[in-house]
Amino acid sequence: MFGRIDHVAVAVSDLDAALVLHEGVFGMPVVHRETLVEQGVEAVLLDVGESHVELLAPLAEDTPVGRFLAARGPGLHHVAYQVTDIATALARLRERGVRLIDAHPRTGLRGTQVAFLHPSQTAGVLTELVQPANFGA
Ligand code: CO
Repeated sequence: MFGRIDHVAVAVSDLDAALVLHEGVFGMPVVHRETLVEQGVEAVLLDVGESHVELLAPLAEDTPVGRFLAARGPGLHHVAYQVTDIATALARLRERGVRLIDAHPRTGLRGTQVAFLHPSQTAGVLTELVQPANFGA
């Protein structure tokens, strides 16, 4: 069902400081920067081979990532697996008893379709499914 790891996401309070580390020190090229108002985040994608690191900074304290930072501080936020057909993957996971945060996919970075699984049933790891925008095109 899952292809490769699409990205690991890191919650940060200061995007530019996180870029000094990831772009400047680690040497990861920035490939995309986007503000997702409805998700309350500004996100930056950096290349790591065929996968990515996703840096997430909250637009406000009263957002999912803002609440995450207040509760836990900066750190690993979620892991995202690539799927070719997100609707089928969600249906199959629901049949297998997995609790979904998103019953239906929503639009993620770069026109992807994404959905989150609840960490209570994924070993404490917030898990995202990503269907790339170019699949089926
Ligand atoms: Co993500």
